Amino acid sequence: MITFEEKLNSIKSGKSVILEMDDLVDGLLNSGKMEELLFNTAENVLLNNVGKNCYLRGIVEVSNRCQKNCLYCGLRRDNDSFARFTMTFDEVIQSLNFGYQLGLRSFLLQTGELLGEDHINLIEKILFWTSDMWGESVRMVLSLGELPKNVLKRLLKAGGARYLLRIETSNHELYMKLHPKNGIHRFSERKKCLSDLRETGWQTGSGVLIGVPWQTSRELAEDILFLKEIDIDMCGMGPYIEMKSTPLFNVRHLAPSKEDRFKLSLRMIALARIIMPTINIAATTALQTLNPKGLEMGLRCGANVIMPNLTPRKYRDRYVLYEGKASVYDRLEDMLKQMPRRCRKLGRKLVLKNSGDPIRFIERKKLRNRAKGMGRKKPRGEEN
Ligand code: 5AD
Ligand code: SF4
Repeated sequence: MITFEEKLNSIKSGKSVILEMDDLVDGLLNSGKMEELLFNTAENVLLNNVGKNCYLRGIVEVSNRCQKNCLYCGLRRDNDSFARFTMTFDEVIQSLNFGYQLGLRSFLLQTGELLGEDHINLIEKILFWTSDMWGESVRMVLSLGELPKNVLKRLLKAGGARYLLRIETSNHELYMKLHPKNGIHRFSERKKCLSDLRETGWQTGSGVLIGVPWQTSRELAEDILFLKEIDIDMCGMGPYIEMKSTPLFNVRHLAPSKEDRFKLSLRMIALARIIMPTINIAATTALQTLNPKGLEMGLRCGANVIMPNLTPRKYRDRYVLYEGKASVYDRLEDMLKQMPRRCRKLGRKLVLKNSGDPIRFIERKKLRNRAKGMGRKKPRGEEN
């Protein structure tokens, strides 16, 4: 039988070897030399498959309102410890324009989950504007929670390109422990929304919370296999961080230590890169919140996307998903001064004026076109 270490060595040298469930669990549990080998393997896989480029995705937190009550999140509806806001159209455009002038070509519009017509109209209007102004040179990314399929179609048509919806955990039982048991927090609905996204043609991103109370390493390993199975284009996942005034805060002692959550997150990134070599993976804000070296370490372990925050200062402190939420830099200008050097030190390259489409998406499109051209069924795994 080949050991996990032997498998990693083979992958590192460019061979194609399948990692099984037990290997993933090993990868999540091992520290020391084996962890170093895991990180080095992930780095090699990254360089061989997506190259050394690091892309920027500017986040605009358009509204902190949310209809949901997820037990871990500061934005949950029942938390009234901060004021709610929604940015105006002009404020959003100003933030996007600022990022564009400095070379960003991919923007994430993020809000809590809202279904009202005013909300969807605002997002649609922003997308129309960006399409008119910047066309194909920019990729607009949405993270607005679960939306009905007709709304997803409408926003794609308006100019959206990518959508991020974290499954949070692929384990139904754990999902139920992290969310209230009612009609708007259904695991099946979340999975359906992910398949709707794929069916409607969005570049689809997902991810999970790492190190929540009750979660086991086996469940995290299953999460990676789940993300592989639904064939994501992008991955954003990060450590769970305690948030006062949320129900999960009362059982925070059941979560691994902060240090362990940080390590688990890096190992998850490395394993995700090895299992899904051509997707985009973000070095998330939560990773940086737990450790000032989080950004570098995330990139080193397989991430290739950095997410500067473009939300106006007056709103930023009110987008409180969790305690102490960090941003890479307070000001984008400062980040752009220092980040190229920080990337170079890692043997990587910060790329501007490039929207950084995930190679996995381009591959899938090619396969689909080829199948169409040959007038036969699409290849296995590419049926959608
Ligand atoms: N810790 C870390 N991430 C969190 N999120 C929400 N609450 C927390 C928390 N306490 C993440 C969720 C959600 C995204 C918007 O923020 O994964 O999908
Ligand atoms: Fe709302 Fe998302 Fe927070 Fe849940 S995780 S409360 S859906 S913002």
